Amino acid sequence: MSGSLQGRTCAITGGGGLIGSFLVDDLVARGASVVVVDDFSKGRRANLAHQAEAIEIREVDLEQAGSALDALEGCEIVFHLASRAFGVGHGAGRHWEILAHNEAITNNVLVAVARQRPDHVLITSSSCVHRDDGPDTVGELPLFDGEPEMANWGYGWAKRFLEQKALVVARETGIPMTLVRPFNIFGERYAWAGNSSQAIPMLVKKVMDGEDPVIMWGSGEQRRTYLHASDCAAIMRSLVEAGWTDGPVNIGLAETVTVRELVETICRVAGRSPELIADTSKPEGRFVKSSDPTRLMQAVPGFKPSLSFEEGIRRMTDWYRQEFA
Ligand SMILES: NC(=O)c1ccc[n+]([C@@H]2O[C@H](COP(=O)([O-])OP(=O)(O)OC[C@H]3O[C@@H](n4cnc5c(N)ncnc54)[C@H](O)[C@@H]3O)[C@@H](O)[C@H]2O)c1
Repeated sequence: MSGSLQGRTCAITGGGGLIGSFLVDDLVARGASVVVVDDFSKGRRANLAHQAEAIEIREVDLEQAGSALDALEGCEIVFHLASRAFGVGHGAGRHWEILAHNEAITNNVLVAVARQRPDHVLITSSSCVHRDDGPDTVGELPLFDGEPEMANWGYGWAKRFLEQKALVVARETGIPMTLVRPFNIFGERYAWAGNSSQAIPMLVKKVMDGEDPVIMWGSGEQRRTYLHASDCAAIMRSLVEAGWTDGPVNIGLAETVTVRELVETICRVAGRSPELIADTSKPEGRFVKSSDPTRLMQAVPGFKPSLSFEEGIRRMTDWYRQEFA
């Protein structure tokens, strides 16, 4: 499919979550009829409260085969985002648990897709499918090239299996599928998960709590590319409008900031000046994680983030005030 999503019925699995809830806003603004499928294990109804009149919510645990089967009924387009996703500190010792949960979701969603036959499906994989020792700026590497990112090993395998299984279903059913591999996505609808939280919310909390010194995991010199969840959602919608099926697309840019620069930005926005200390005994993941945007620019010509990094961080300090006030 390609073209406007106006008037189309779009399911968003994981629509109560960080990226999913921004996708809800994006699609509603474009006149789509939106169905959120979520068990709210991590996503929040509060993320959708402002759209209560505009959307349908189906509270479904996609790990349960029976309930998942009907979850996509009547939906013409499916954006599949639901997954068990946490920060890098969560994975250690839990790789099998994470893999097993995500495999159950994958299998059930793909069976439901094959049964409901939507016109188009977007599958959300992750940059974690990429090997650790690839180039610093990663293009869309082949799926089964070495091990996936070791800090997120079980999750990376789950995403590899998701991509491969989706390709099999796409080929057998003829349903066009768009595969995306987001890099580091952040935003103010993040559900705090304690020590399992992702880096930006974790560091925003440390600074805003007034910790001094602030301990950074790893060397602090590791580099990441960051994108706000609203921009990630806009890319997902644009790819489906464009009917993109020509290989997986990285959602990320080449520009990076170091963790130290990230903390300095948080401190500047928050008006704090703690001492910064690097704790190299903690995992830092791969040293540079940056995305080659060549294919993204081919698929979504002219894409530019709508928010500056600093504005995104300012929103995260607002998030802290709401979350922990
Ligand atoms: N945020 C990132 O940096 C990032 C990077 C790469 C890939 N991704 C992927 O993007 C997608 C969205 O990520 P996010 O950051 O919005 O995560 P999130 O945790 O905020 O959203 C995931 C949503 O899935 C729901 N969910 C989990 N298990 C479910 C189940 N069994 N049944 C129904 N719903 C269930 C959660 O309640 C939540 O609303 C995920 O697939 C994630 O793996 C995210």
